[in-house]
Amino acid sequence: MTDLSPADMAKKAAADRAVEFVQDGMRLGLGTGSTAAFMVKRLGERVRTEGLRVVGVPTSSRTAALARAEGIRVVTLDQAGWLDLTIDGADEFDADLTLIKGGGGAHLQEKVVAAASDRMIVITDPAKRVSQLGAFPLPVEVLQFGQGSTEKHIARVLAGLGYGARRITIRMAGDQPFVSDEGNHILDLHMGEITDARTLSVALNQIPGVVENGLFINISDLVVIGHTNGRSELIEAAPGVEAAMRTVRTREHDPFADIGAEQ
Ligand code: A5P
Repeated sequence: MTDLSPADMAKKAAADRAVEFVQDGMRLGLGTGSTAAFMVKRLGERVRTEGLRVVGVPTSSRTAALARAEGIRVVTLDQAGWLDLTIDGADEFDADLTLIKGGGGAHLQEKVVAAASDRMIVITDPAKRVSQLGAFPLPVEVLQFGQGSTEKHIARVLAGLGYGARRITIRMAGDQPFVSDEGNHILDLHMGEITDARTLSVALNQIPGVVENGLFINISDLVVIGHTNGRSELIEAAPGVEAAMRTVRTREHDPFADIGAEQ
């Protein structure tokens, strides 16, 4: 018996399935959000019941607290050096497994952690699957310093890319701007649709004051979609995508390997 809502049943189904990919000794990136919370709890169960020895690198202070409470050994990304696998949620994903993330305000650490992992598994429910990204507002983490001018630059970039005027709102936490774990603010870009995620991502990240945008491009290896009946469905990245992009992140191609930074 369970008192989970149908939506939570779907999230838990995805999370439980993804945790099956975890093996003893792995160094794991632990995502943030309600779906990732189910994953951390299931991982904690496996640590306690199976004696699974893993270390976790949380992507937010919230996830760090939950992981510790679940008995998972928590280390920093620099202590871990490099990760075997990151499991995280998403706000939207498309057929290329490009993601919008950051609905929980943690996409900066999430992207750094996912990019330092051999694999990324995304855990979602069916509602996150879209034919075109952009209905979910795109989070952009910005420095508090000069936030107004950064927002003007963003508006100009959007217009220059042919998106026209798009509403940009500052993320709030009650009556105050939301402050990320890194001390920054988040602007939400109400795009409606994103026609070229790569160009948009590069253009946004070139603006002084922009710290990181919430587009995850060619980072996801596998999406696990949970369903309300407890079943799950796996969608793998297309082989061509993997060959083109993911190889630069593997251990063999680790750019820091020569200087012994990998552990
Ligand atoms: C956190 O900043 C986000 O990237 C989350 O991973 C994303 O918002 C998904 O969250 P839910 O699992 O709560 O929908």
